[in-house]
Formats: sequence, structure tokens, C-alpha cells
Amino acid sequence: MKHELDVVVVGAGGAGLYAALEASRNKKVKNIAVVSKLFPVRSHTGAAQGGIGAALGNLEEDKPEWHAFDTVKGGDYLVDQQAAMILANEAVDSVYDLEHNGLPFNRTEEGKIDQRRFGGHTRNFGEAAVRRSCYAADRTGHMILQTLYQQCIKNKVAFFNEFHLLDVLIDGNTCQGIVAYDLATGELHTFHAKAVLLATGGFGRMFRITSNAFANTGDGPAVLAQQGLPLEDMEFFQFHPTGIRGMGILITEGVRGEGGILRNCDGERFMERYAPTLLDLAPRDMIARAITTEILNGKGILKKPQGDDYVHLDTTHLGKEVLEKKLPDITEFCRTYQDIDPITTPIPVQPTAHYGMGGIPTDVNGQVFGDTKGTIVEGLYAAGECACVSVHGANRLGTNSLVDLIVFGKRAGSSVASFAAGAQHQPIPVNADDRAKKRIIDLSNSSSNVKQDVLRKKMRDTMMDGVGIFRNGNDMADAIETIKELREDAKDLSVSDANAKYNTELMDTMELKNLLDLSLITAVSAHNRQESRGAHAREDFPDRDDANFLKHTYASLNKDEVRLEYKSVDTSIWEPKPRKY
Ligand code: FUM
Repeated sequence: MKHELDVVVVGAGGAGLYAALEASRNKKVKNIAVVSKLFPVRSHTGAAQGGIGAALGNLEEDKPEWHAFDTVKGGDYLVDQQAAMILANEAVDSVYDLEHNGLPFNRTEEGKIDQRRFGGHTRNFGEAAVRRSCYAADRTGHMILQTLYQQCIKNKVAFFNEFHLLDVLIDGNTCQGIVAYDLATGELHTFHAKAVLLATGGFGRMFRITSNAFANTGDGPAVLAQQGLPLEDMEFFQFHPTGIRGMGILITEGVRGEGGILRNCDGERFMERYAPTLLDLAPRDMIARAITTEILNGKGILKKPQGDDYVHLDTTHLGKEVLEKKLPDITEFCRTYQDIDPITTPIPVQPTAHYGMGGIPTDVNGQVFGDTKGTIVEGLYAAGECACVSVHGANRLGTNSLVDLIVFGKRAGSSVASFAAGAQHQPIPVNADDRAKKRIIDLSNSSSNVKQDVLRKKMRDTMMDGVGIFRNGNDMADAIETIKELREDAKDLSVSDANAKYNTELMDTMELKNLLDLSLITAVSAHNRQESRGAHAREDFPDRDDANFLKHTYASLNKDEVRLEYKSVDTSIWEPKPRKY
């Protein structure tokens, strides 16, 4: 089936919905569609709990410049600084735009948007913690989805739900559309568009313990990488300090923002030793490492042989009212998944793979770069977690995922609409869906007995153990070899379910292949960065090395090899300094 559209947005999380909404505000653009593999309000943005950072200064003095500085310092100076200024400046208006479109933020007694503390948010360039996170209980992401989805419907954006991206059509240097698979019917749909915007979210499912939804398989970046386009800074993957033990489900940093305290088996508030000023609200990479170090030093809650893989997040002093009114979802998660009540019992937590700082390289308007020289791929845009602007550098500041998707989702939506308003459809071949068809046929024709669940488990263990919180050259070299073998095995994968309708086995297999490609790119990029910076902590290179590595990685897949190039970082505002909190 074929569709002709002005703009097609792939992904219905916060970035995709905001982009579609903003594009629909341009009267010269008529047909805008969102193609999503989920029903929009089930997108992973809904897992973002604790809030959106914006220097509204509703409770104490705050400035966008301080927010930008925290972003740069939190990112260990690998952040492009002018982009961080845009992020912090435009966060303020974007939050008010959401409020005016109906987002039910928590309120101060005066009726202003309430704000809470979050990791790495400081006033006056690191002097002390500041209340910057604008929140709707611990359901901020959910509220963003509901608000934006309603507005998109009102503005007559079309939705193709449960459609899986299989191909992005690029001829020479021009994007002409996408091909997607309709899960309900098994049919391929070609979306011939003047411009395409990818907002397909993250790829945390490559790790064993993750806060990411099953859907987070990096389809957008993977499909571009499979065509030889570069991905930026993929070695930087953030582990959120507090996932529910063994499951990885997020326990928001908002808990610590409200006063929750991390404790080891002695009941010690161990962050006093690692970050004496910001304590439990230091940046995430530091806290995730501190927890792991406590555990490795035998200070986890259970001593061997029972297992020693977690610490406590103590909320017992916060009281019923704070937990049930400001943190109702996580209170319920603890009751449901751990059979404990955080009002009376500390929460068992461990770091969980949470957020990919890298992704599809873009400019600040969402236009995709095809190389390190800044060549634009005409008509192709990206925003949200799948993109790399780059405002997160080596470690994203808490709440800046939501800020990224509202600021850069909105900007990308505006720029894709202006482009489409002045563009013509580029002709596409009659058989534009051939490559996508071949992917399906190859899987259906294979008769091997390679099992996708076996490959998936091995990939997730390999990435967690070899390219996780602490890394070293030998383990990463082994991980690269294992991932290469898994990719080889995956070439023989077959799909036993021959049904056209809701063939989830077929979709799972495509997703696994995407994750394997991204795992290889991540591992090779990490192996080549011989320094420690932000979330990339190497035991064999413990120091940050600005002389050799203050640069962005661009990694391109060429069959079974990854080619690396580097690009300079914009440090035009603040000179890189050692990080201390
Ligand atoms: O902790 C949280 O609520 C997560 C927010 C984020 O990833 O920014």
C-alpha cells in the first residue's frame, strides 16, 4: 500500500508527538502522519517520572544559564555548548506551552508550577542544589504523552499505530520516505514523503538490566546505520542509579529529590564519601559507580552467598503524604513488584541501563548529518533519544531527556514543516519496498534452528558485563568478538510463525537484529575511547583525557566492521574543568 504525505514522523513518544504538533501548526503543511509501533500513549516517554528541568525560578532563584552550565558539566564537557544554551533557554517556553495545552503540573500554594530538586541541578554554577524539575507527581512523562496526543488529534495529525519501521528511503543524499510493516495485517506500507522525522526513542534493550520498555530497540538509528550513515557518541550509555532490584524498572530520582537517601549494608549514607556537596543528588554516572563500588566492596545489602547486588533507597522518613501524593506510582511499583511498602521499608535498588546519550547526529533544528563535515541529508530529521544534538555529552543530566524532546522535538517539527512547505515529492521507484520485502522473505525462508531468545540473552549479558558501568579494554574486546559472532548467527535466524496477522515473532527478530548492530557500534566506539569521561568509566584509563579525547565519535557500520571518525566539540562558552560535586 502507498501513501503520499508532506511529513511523516516515525515514533509517537514525546519528541515525535511534539514534532508532529508543531508541524501541524504550520498552515502550509497539509498531510502529517505519525507512524508508531505502539499506541501513542504507551510510548516509553511515559516511563519518565520525575520531571522536566526548566529554570522557571518558581521556588528559588534560577537562570537558564545555570541550567546550561549544569548540562555541560554533567555531560563531562562533551556537550556542544551553544546547543546546551538553546536547550536551557527554550525549556522555559516549552514548559509553559505544555501547561497551556493542558498538562496538569503539580502546583505551589500560589498556584505556580511546582519544582523539585534533581541530580546535578545547581544554582550559580554548582554552588548548591536548586529546585528546577517541573513535575506532575511521578507521572510527568505520561502527562506529556496525553497532552501532546490530544493536541495532535485536535490538529488532525493522522496516526498509523502498530506499524514497525523497516526502511528509510534515501537516494543519494535525499530522503524520500519510509517503508513500514503493519503488525495487524502483515502488509508493507510505503510512505512517500517530502520529509521524514525519526523519533524512535532509545535502545536500552541491548542490556540485561534496563529501565527501557520492550519497544526500545533503536529501530531508527539501526536502519540508518545499516545504510552506512554514521551514529554519534554511541559509547556513552547512562545507568540510572535506582532501578528496582533485579527488574530494572525505574525508581525516579524524584525520590531523592524529595529527600530519599541511599544506604549500604551498614545503614551508612555512603554518598557523603563520593560527592560531599550534592550527596544523593550528584549526577547519575557518579552515583551509579558509587553504588557499584559499594557492592563490589562487600557493602551491598545481602552478603555472599545470598547475593550482594543492591543497596537501599531509604524513604521511611518521608512520610505517607509525600510518598502517596508526590510519588504515587513508585509507591505502587514497590508494593506490586517487591511486596514492600516504602512508607515503612527501604527500597532495594541497583543501577539500570537507562539512556543512550548518542544517536543520529543532528544540528539544532533536527537536520541529520551524513558525515563529520556537516553534510545534511536533505529531508531527513531526527529528535529525542534516537538523536544526538549533542546536549547530553558523556552523561545526561536528570530531567534533560524530557527537556531534549520538548525543545528539540518542537524545533525539529518547526523546521521539518518549513522544509516540506517549500519542497516537492522526490520520485521513488515503483519497487521502493523491495529491500524491506527481502528482510522479511530472508527470515521466512531460512530453515536454521538458531533461536532468537538464545541470541538475545547472550547479547544482553555480553553488553551488561563487558560494556556496562565499569569497562576495560580486554572485556570490551571480548564483547566485540561475541557480538560479531551473534550477528553472524543472526544471519541464519528464521521465523517459524507463518501468520500475517500480529506476527510478533517476526517483529522481535527484526528488533533483535537492530539491537545487535547498535551493540557492535556501541562496543567498538567504547573500546576506542581510551579515557574515562561521564558514563564511560574505564578501569584501564581512569582519567579524562582532553588532549586526545575531547571529541565526538562518529561510527559507521560497513558490513561487519565499524569505521570511526571524530568531530570537534563546541566548547565556546565554558572551558573544560575537572568535575567535582
Ligand atoms: O529519575 C527519573 O525520573 C528519570 C528522569 C530522567 O531520566 O531524566
